[in-house]
Amino acid sequence: MTLTARRTAPVQPTTHCARSGRAERVHAAPVPAGPLLPIVGAGSPVPLVTGAERPYANLDYAASAPPLQAVADHVDELLPYYASVHRGAGYASQVCTRVYEGARAAVAEFVDARSDDVVVFTRNTTDALNLLAGCVPAGGEVVVLDIEHHANLLPWRHRRVVEAAATLERTLARVEAELARRPAALLAVTGTSNVTGEQLPLGLLSRIAHRHGARIAVDAAQLVPHRRIDLVASQVDYLAFSGHKLYAPWGAGALVGRRDWLDEAPPYLAGGGAVREVGLDEVRWTSAPARHEGGSPNVVGVAALARACQVIGALPEGSLEAHESALRRRLLAGLGDVPGVQVHRIWPDSSSAVGVVAFSVRGYAPGHVAAYLSAEHAVGVRDGKFCAHPLAARLGFPDGALRASFGLATTADDVDRLVTGIDTLVRNGTNWSYDVVDGRYEPVPDPRPWPEWVPSDVGPVTRGCQPGT
Ligand code: ALA
Repeated sequence: MTLTARRTAPVQPTTHCARSGRAERVHAAPVPAGPLLPIVGAGSPVPLVTGAERPYANLDYAASAPPLQAVADHVDELLPYYASVHRGAGYASQVCTRVYEGARAAVAEFVDARSDDVVVFTRNTTDALNLLAGCVPAGGEVVVLDIEHHANLLPWRHRRVVEAAATLERTLARVEAELARRPAALLAVTGTSNVTGEQLPLGLLSRIAHRHGARIAVDAAQLVPHRRIDLVASQVDYLAFSGHKLYAPWGAGALVGRRDWLDEAPPYLAGGGAVREVGLDEVRWTSAPARHEGGSPNVVGVAALARACQVIGALPEGSLEAHESALRRRLLAGLGDVPGVQVHRIWPDSSSAVGVVAFSVRGYAPGHVAAYLSAEHAVGVRDGKFCAHPLAARLGFPDGALRASFGLATTADDVDRLVTGIDTLVRNGTNWSYDVVDGRYEPVPDPRPWPEWVPSDVGPVTRGCQPGT
């Protein structure tokens, strides 16, 4: 996918790149003032610990993106017809079945799928990659890099890990050597690092995989919200992504790709909808995609995902890329002026990156900085190891870092508020007290009110891909 630019004041400082150790001179590009597309809740006021309110600067789109207004409107128009999918003759059921099945074409078009590719609806990227893991032909080995999100490390049954080299070029050579050393069924790579935003050359990786008889699967969770992907041109065999990162947070994701493995594998979810005929002693399963979509489908999530694909797919070519590049350069330029800030990247020679930037602030725990940005500046960022522990360790922040990530509604003002917040912290410290409560930094006291419908007592918080993890 491709993406646009916005206008803004120029800044021209330097940013220190953690891995390369060199100073990268970045020049802030003009950033247009407004959002690229309307997003529900963008810029809504949130409370500060002082009692004041500020518009929320959401710089955490990479974790979960709020819905496009067009997606929320579509969900609203669907809900009065909400009914079963594939299971009813009633008018509303027919509407839902048509919406559900029609969504496959919208998703396929969004990623320029081949005409014989299958679109399987899942819950999210993790679900899609777990599904695919069960479809790799028996005993088939899967080659991965050590820079991956856990979703693309943990599901594979026979996994071979290639350690990324100091440069992208040498990393690609290592991948090729590993595939040449011993055959593999699949090369599974991320399209874009969820930590640093660096992109991988998917066309090149496809050629490498295919040259050695392997297929290629791409974790596109962080790619499709930022860039266009063309399955035909890139020759990627499988693509997995999530609605909740694509401005459609109603619980659906997708796996798109070659039919044969999906038709031959055991059903991912055994149950109603995945079968042709059931006897007490034998079952005839249906083919993909229904084979892997047992149970009542999430028609609302799928409708939301498809509408997001249509709306984002209709953005002018290059608009999103230009928008994000300008914001990224502005952020790097701004952070480059703040003493003690270190921006993390994997490779000095990766030539393109999306609007995702990881950084550390010397002398401050990342959770402390994130809590301060929220409490005193109404800026939302993520801190932790970003569900990519091996990468965090290799980048030199085994205890975590901060991550700012942009989306369609991010403005230059959002970026400037983050930079100002970090600069103020480094120069003056915080204006409030913070302490670790239940394993997480919090302002103490925290007088910010919650909306009245938020439960006051939530019990123990379960920790998965949480701050610090
Ligand atoms: N995978 C998501 C992230 O990177 C949750 O934040």
